[in-house]
Amino acid sequence: MKRVSLTQYLVEEQRLNNSIPAELRLLIEVVARACKTISHAVGKGALGEVLGTAGSENIQGEVQKKLDILSNEILLEANEWGGHLAAMASEEMESIHPIPNRYPKGEYMLLFDPLDGSSNIDVNVSIGTIFSVLKAPEGMAEPTEQDFMQAGNKQVAAGYAVYGPQTVLVLTTGNGVNCFTLDREMGSWVLTQQNMQIPVDTKEYAINASNARHWLPPVTRYVNELQAGVTGSRGKDFNMRWIASMVADVHRILNRGGVFMYPADAREPDKPGKLRLMYEANPMSFIVEQAGGASTDGKQRMLDIQPEKLHQRVPVFLGSKNEVELVTRYHQE
Ligand code: AHG
Ligand code: MN
Ligand code: MN
Repeated sequence: MKRVSLTQYLVEEQRLNNSIPAELRLLIEVVARACKTISHAVGKGALGEVLGTAGSENIQGEVQKKLDILSNEILLEANEWGGHLAAMASEEMESIHPIPNRYPKGEYMLLFDPLDGSSNIDVNVSIGTIFSVLKAPEGMAEPTEQDFMQAGNKQVAAGYAVYGPQTVLVLTTGNGVNCFTLDREMGSWVLTQQNMQIPVDTKEYAINASNARHWLPPVTRYVNELQAGVTGSRGKDFNMRWIASMVADVHRILNRGGVFMYPADAREPDKPGKLRLMYEANPMSFIVEQAGGASTDGKQRMLDIQPEKLHQRVPVFLGSKNEVELVTRYHQE
């Protein structure tokens, strides 16, 4: 196999499609390097003393794990000095993180979920990192949270890393989706899947069914029909998977299709779902659409939602196109 490194891919992509200017390439390479560092820490587990809780809470009121904080620090440190960014934002930080004055500022803004799937850290199940890249608004002086309030369709790049049996990096810059596998011996990212495509139809769905009693009628209707199987209205059996790490569930869907749902439910009307729009739903939706899938909040295209808050939550329905369209239609009826 002829090995294509991440760097070679990025350089050639720029030559071919003019879609990855040097600053963006640096940004992606720096994020990829940070993910390598996180992967290394994850892989050490108990030996690296990285397991367990940190004893603090983040802005979402969630208990922070040591690895949530460590991954956040790794990403911040890696991305501060390169001159490619104006500001960063993270699940683990209440407000945005402008680039310190001692470094030059660039034209991009980076958002991330440093460690996705925190509940899986201590049990050695796949976890990951999700990131989204926006352009700083023209003429921006000091970056504010307002500058981040851009719809997902404005993203210039998005990606995620999965720290699982293999460490992989999945990336889009708006020109299809490619997957790189970390060669642990060489320490390099190698292109292993090109132009990933999500099958439009599927027999697999993912939802936390323990919340079924709180679901709203369109979700109950849709999941009941899936569960009715071959003798029900859908006329086929469906299989269920739920990893509880969005990165790993999305990665499965990217590879063999499926529909992933984290709906809003009746418990807390002010809290629409669990997942966050800006650093979970948007980057994943960009990737999924670029792979021929679809993503909505049940009512509209995810990428067209105008964000109002950095840590805004949103219901998520994404994956194989025909299934996402069906469950979205049930919401509209
Ligand atoms: P995070 O660890 O960044 O807070 O995200 C966890 C999210 C997502 O990855 C996953 O799909 C979902 O929470 C799992 O939720 P349940 O605990 O309801 O299964
Ligand atoms: Mn997450
Ligand atoms: Mn997280």
